[in-house]
Amino acid sequence: MKTQHLRPAQDGRLPEPTCGTAFAPALAGRCRWRARFPLAVAAFPCGVLALGILSVALTNGRVGVGAQATDAPGPATVIVRADQGRHTIHRNIYGHFAEHLGRCIYEGIWVGEDSPIPNVRGIRQDVVSALKRLNLPVLRWPGGCFADEYHWKDGIGPRAQRPAMINTHWGGVTENNHFGTHEFLDLCEQLGTEPYICGNVGSGTVQEMMDWVEYMTADADSPMANLRRQNGRDRPWRVRYFGVGNESWGCGGNMRPEYYADEYRRYSTFVKNYGTNRIYRIACGANSADYNWTEVLMREAGRRMNGLSLHYYTIATGNWSRKGSATVFTEADWHATLRRTLTMDELIAKHGAIMDRFDPDKRVSMIVDEWGTWYDVEPGTNPGFLYQQNTLRDALVAALNFHIFHNHSDRVRMANIAQTINVLQSMILTDKERMLVTPTYHVFEMYKVHHDATQLPAEVACAQYRLGDHALPQVSASASRAPAGALHLSVANLDPNRAAPLVCQFEGFTPKRAAGRVLTASVMNAHNTFDQPRQVEPRALEGVAVADGKVQVTLPPMSVAVLALE
Ligand code: AHR
Repeated sequence: MKTQHLRPAQDGRLPEPTCGTAFAPALAGRCRWRARFPLAVAAFPCGVLALGILSVALTNGRVGVGAQATDAPGPATVIVRADQGRHTIHRNIYGHFAEHLGRCIYEGIWVGEDSPIPNVRGIRQDVVSALKRLNLPVLRWPGGCFADEYHWKDGIGPRAQRPAMINTHWGGVTENNHFGTHEFLDLCEQLGTEPYICGNVGSGTVQEMMDWVEYMTADADSPMANLRRQNGRDRPWRVRYFGVGNESWGCGGNMRPEYYADEYRRYSTFVKNYGTNRIYRIACGANSADYNWTEVLMREAGRRMNGLSLHYYTIATGNWSRKGSATVFTEADWHATLRRTLTMDELIAKHGAIMDRFDPDKRVSMIVDEWGTWYDVEPGTNPGFLYQQNTLRDALVAALNFHIFHNHSDRVRMANIAQTINVLQSMILTDKERMLVTPTYHVFEMYKVHHDATQLPAEVACAQYRLGDHALPQVSASASRAPAGALHLSVANLDPNRAAPLVCQFEGFTPKRAAGRVLTASVMNAHNTFDQPRQVEPRALEGVAVADGKVQVTLPPMSVAVLALE
């Protein structure tokens, strides 16, 4: 069966620079970005801007990041205000998402107990070992669109007796339900990660959702807890994160926000706390720039939720019917992909501003529970399986997204890249018994130092990376202080042609030593293959110098680096 995944148009358009009318008299010959965007993407339709300055000021005083891109020669500077950190970069920003889609669960995670691939209770161990190196904080499952057609009771009990179903969203393949609640929570225990379960609102009942929570978390002498015991698990699991539907504006039921808000209120009422387990209820949030959805949800149900989700994918072309290749692309595609990635900042700022009106204390978290690049599938693979390669470009996309999430850590407390294995912007690709880790994986590994660290304002002044009519700041940076005291600075050079000499200065901190690692390559589409799995991997960053309280280093073209400073 051939299925097509339909998705409402996503607003991948870039914010327009405010050249011309509003600011023209004041700026005379310069182009100034609205102060809302801490990291700006510049398109320069106005010729007068050739020698102009792109200036981006503080987002809201709390975000505390400014970036200035100019055409002036000289090194980029990063000023880290080490004495001004206020918000924690929640480790869950480094969260993941695994859906019953293509070869993510089956083959990627689940090989079955009888497989020749080494496994523990059916879960492949090469993948578990690789993911453990990322300190995976949280894992979202079973979907995605799949969540709203998943009936959890079909996925418990003896596997041979579990009923099958058709996975209508993803390739129309038969789902045998061999990977269900016990297997997923076993995976989470093997990984040491928090489960984030997404419940079925679209085609499931309130009773079904209520029973699932009782089955997983109740310790009492109750029907569902006893059913769980009968299936071999005595102790309840701890399940903190629970999503009430997925993309209810689309594949989850095509609901209007008013209707979903009422459904959310009804379903979430029966998502109960049993014993000491405390559920963090996450409502389905907007599709990219659908601000009305956020407005209605916050107004009608904001007080009943702990988190509101947001989905935004980077589509290099901005066109869902021709998304472009993951590996065969031009510099224009590279530039456009990075520009569209920075749209994430605008989306978070605008949705966040709406949330602020209803929730000024920021009690409700923004949960970006699907993000990442989405290209055309690899030639010759099932179009419903969303299998794509992963290059250095994806590593840059990951780094930029993390910098944006860090900057918004006062509101964004979880993000889940789509998806962990063999689907979209993956950490891992598998081919039967072989596996490789992707450039994106390496960014997650290098950025572990930011987990639960205090976000520090970092202001960047740098050259522009221009291509045709478009310009981007060449350098993006983010800094944090780890709970144990170490300071870390992650930096990305977006320009594939020019190195970026960097001078880092600090307020409230005097570095004595610095060392780092860098992820780079000689071509934009460098990637790992099963025959050459180590083409792209981090290496030591050479030439880091510390003197007079400053750190100097030159970033290679198209690179992501993380520095540890003492
Ligand atoms: O991640 C792939 C799909 O993208 C998810 O199933 C859905 O939620 C989104 O449209």
